[in-house]
Amino acid sequence: EQVRIIGVPMDLGADRRGVDMGSSTIRYAGLADELDALGIDVTDAGDLPVPRAEERDPEAEQPAEGEAKFLRETADVCTRLADEVADTIDAGQFPLVLGGDHSIAIGTAKGAARDADLGVVWFDAHGDFNTPKTSPSGNVHGMPLAALLGIGDFADTEWANAPNIREENVVLVGLRSLDDDERRAIRESDVTAYTMSDIDERGVTPVVEDALDVATDGTDGIHVSLDMDWLDPKVAPGVGTPVRGGVNYREAHLALEKVAERDENEGVLRSLEVVEVNAILDEHNETAELATELAASGLGKRIL
Ligand code: ARG
Ligand code: MN
Ligand code: MN
Ligand code: MN
Repeated sequence: EQVRIIGVPMDLGADRRGVDMGSSTIRYAGLADELDALGIDVTDAGDLPVPRAEERDPEAEQPAEGEAKFLRETADVCTRLADEVADTIDAGQFPLVLGGDHSIAIGTAKGAARDADLGVVWFDAHGDFNTPKTSPSGNVHGMPLAALLGIGDFADTEWANAPNIREENVVLVGLRSLDDDERRAIRESDVTAYTMSDIDERGVTPVVEDALDVATDGTDGIHVSLDMDWLDPKVAPGVGTPVRGGVNYREAHLALEKVAERDENEGVLRSLEVVEVNAILDEHNETAELATELAASGLGKRIL
């Protein structure tokens, strides 16, 4: 198997600087060697160019209340990322995308859905289901899932909306922080949402198996999006929007092992991305190391 690593040093979708270094820190933690040890043929495409907030024209108009920040730049990055991901899949390689903040998922999932009906598994503390109108922050990393599904202001634009992703095949896992309007939107939609309470009650394995059933039902494959704030901040302190009460180290590995197992049996995985590692807030690169380990578990690493 061939894996192509695509870095996206994007931080325009989040308030905290430091996620722009996420892809470097994950590489530094030894991702390529880890995958190489699994017998995977790894190529690294490097980082996509991303405009820096400091380089933005200071005269440029700031978004008003109810508008998304850096939308033009986000559209540009996501458009290029979608092409890169689609080309990677066309070339018979597997795209492993490293963020960057979660706004990049618009590009990754659009690319993976270019010639396929795509299911999406979203491991996250948050719903990322805001629109520019409902967002309390204006940050696009809180909006990618809604945008992909065509919900909200810019969601009808070509770069954001992914018609090959149906709400019925989208599943959120590990939710524990939602804004009020966002909660309402999720409830009104046809996406499946498993909260931390579901994981507490049933355990990780049945929840993830159900999530995989939902995402693979009638689709050509799935995209797995792993926001590192899905984990408890005790094991993943290096994230911009930490929320107490996340999954622990073993639960996270188990979840990704279930993804790999399903892929081994049914060949369902089209793309994987790991986002929201914040180097400035991390402790001794611990969160980046964990991101590396989880990517390896998702791509087939086993203890024995
Ligand atoms: N719900 C909040 C917002 O929309 C936080 C979103 C956090 N998203 C993330 N990908 N870390 O601003
Ligand atoms: Mn999150
Ligand atoms: Mn997220
Ligand atoms: Mn595979």
